[in-house]
Amino acid sequence: MSNDDVNTGRRRFLTAATSVVGAAGVVGVAVPFVKSWNPSAKAKAAGAPVKVDISKIKPGEMIIPEWRGKPVYIVHRSAEELDALGQQTDRLADPESQRADQPDYIEGAARAIKPEYGIYVGLCTHLGCAPKFRPELGAADLGADWLGGFFCPCHGSRFDLAGRVYKGVPAPTNLVVPPYRYESDKVVVIGEDQGVA
Ligand code: FES
Repeated sequence: MSNDDVNTGRRRFLTAATSVVGAAGVVGVAVPFVKSWNPSAKAKAAGAPVKVDISKIKPGEMIIPEWRGKPVYIVHRSAEELDALGQQTDRLADPESQRADQPDYIEGAARAIKPEYGIYVGLCTHLGCAPKFRPELGAADLGADWLGGFFCPCHGSRFDLAGRVYKGVPAPTNLVVPPYRYESDKVVVIGEDQGVA
């Protein structure tokens, strides 16, 4: 039997140092998965929240912590990338996120508590592949009008940098926004809502 210590009375986070890797400066390279203050494997499986240090994500970069066994994309959008969110709304299937799976406190084009940090479950809403982070403008394989976003390699679904799905692709809805809150300017807690201690 495993002797994992799951503190059921109160959620407890291991205090292992974070190792948020800011090494995704070259577009197209693999985005690093990150370790955070992860709880034990048992607690994670049960859905325990995870804390992530977002302070080292540079504008234009993304990190991928894991929550409930799923990748979570945390993208630090630059001012230009935020501007781009308003430029192709007629090409989006649900630009106002009226059909999207997201908490009530998430609204607007940026789909985020703080517009510069987009936080989305990194699973395509078609059949669950992991969309690629493709922030580069006018990427050769995605078209001169590509403004940056996420591209699913399985069946070609496209999402903008707020996880909003384009029209005419297999994915039916925008990427899911998980519940989250800010513990501080540097630390976000994935899996807990605002106001939850
Ligand atoms: S799983 Fe992403 S397009 Fe099918």
